[in-house]
Amino acid sequence: MISKSLNKKANNNYRLSIAPMMDCTDRHFRVLMRQITNKALLYTEMIVAKALHYSTKREQLLDFNPIEHPISLQLGGDNPSLLSEAAQMAEDWGYDEINLNIGCPSPKVKAGNFGASLMAHPEIVAKCIEKMKKSTKIPITVKHRLGIDHLDSDSYLLKFVDHLAIAGADRFIVHARKAWLKGLNPKQNRTIPPLQYERVRKLKENRPNLIVELNGGLKTIDDCLKALNIYDGTMVGRAAYNHPFIWNTIDSKVFGEEEKIISKSKIIQQLIPYAQSNLENNGCLWDISKHILKLIEKTPGAKFIRQELSEKSQKKKADISILENVAQQLEATGH
Ligand SMILES: Cc1cc2nc3c(=O)[nH]c(=O)nc-3n(C[C@H](O)[C@H](O)[C@H](O)COP(=O)(O)O)c2cc1C
Repeated sequence: MISKSLNKKANNNYRLSIAPMMDCTDRHFRVLMRQITNKALLYTEMIVAKALHYSTKREQLLDFNPIEHPISLQLGGDNPSLLSEAAQMAEDWGYDEINLNIGCPSPKVKAGNFGASLMAHPEIVAKCIEKMKKSTKIPITVKHRLGIDHLDSDSYLLKFVDHLAIAGADRFIVHARKAWLKGLNPKQNRTIPPLQYERVRKLKENRPNLIVELNGGLKTIDDCLKALNIYDGTMVGRAAYNHPFIWNTIDSKVFGEEEKIISKSKIIQQLIPYAQSNLENNGCLWDISKHILKLIEKTPGAKFIRQELSEKSQKKKADISILENVAQQLEATGH
């Protein structure tokens, strides 16, 4: 019987997390999300261990704002030494966890022999985990699919997970669909293979001592609460990125904190000093406004406010008054 890792931190950060999403969950989005929830675990976009090894902009790749805690750095790679080095860097930089991406089916990632294609090589993944565990004290978790191509049976999934658990993986976040590495692009691989929650449920039933989280297709807090009756945690991707505001009661409903309701205008007001400092550090307003756009829905004039915010923020000299104005417009309608 495989037991829960002794290394696991006694917390329940993982009851609800915001999934790693390339070009979406950058540090600015994560800071926005932190105005909405203090508790949900936030994931970075995937960073390739090799890129971290060779990069001259390592600090830029790793950097995050202290308010982003708890935060997990997602790594990609198949080389135990490079991953172990990257894990050490992440720990030194202050990340709370490291997550290994075994779910990405993109051709680029496949060509590098990592991501979802590693589901065919549990022994390599196990070596990577073992080495990362040896070099760090923070949890090492794995995000994977139900299977890939022909390697898609329940027994294969169990074998895969067992291998990684023995190597020391602390948690398993299962995107509840398989991936087709041949024939489907990444976007299709997030919609065409059907969601199969019952297979994740079987995994949890067969391995009650492992920490198993459900990912894929969760759209509301209620969906997550229902899932938490079965699984140890839930991970939300697109529904959180596209509709961040609907998650504003996570802390009370999922984590049992006292309820604090924040308005959309207040969220934007709170982001203004952050956006100002981004401008002062040679960033542009659009870095942040592109995420704020997602907040502005289901309010009077939302389409117009979004349009204006988008157009004005992309101008060269866009300044903070644009956000102040949006916050005022939302406040005027009671949002
Ligand atoms: C635009 C986009 C980028 C993504 N990038 C990553 C990534 O870098 N690493 C990863 O493990 N998954 C990535 N995913 C997959 C999500 O983390 C998640 O597993 C998937 O969207 C299913 O969850 P959802 O139905 O809640 O969105 C990405 C998804 C989207 C939509």
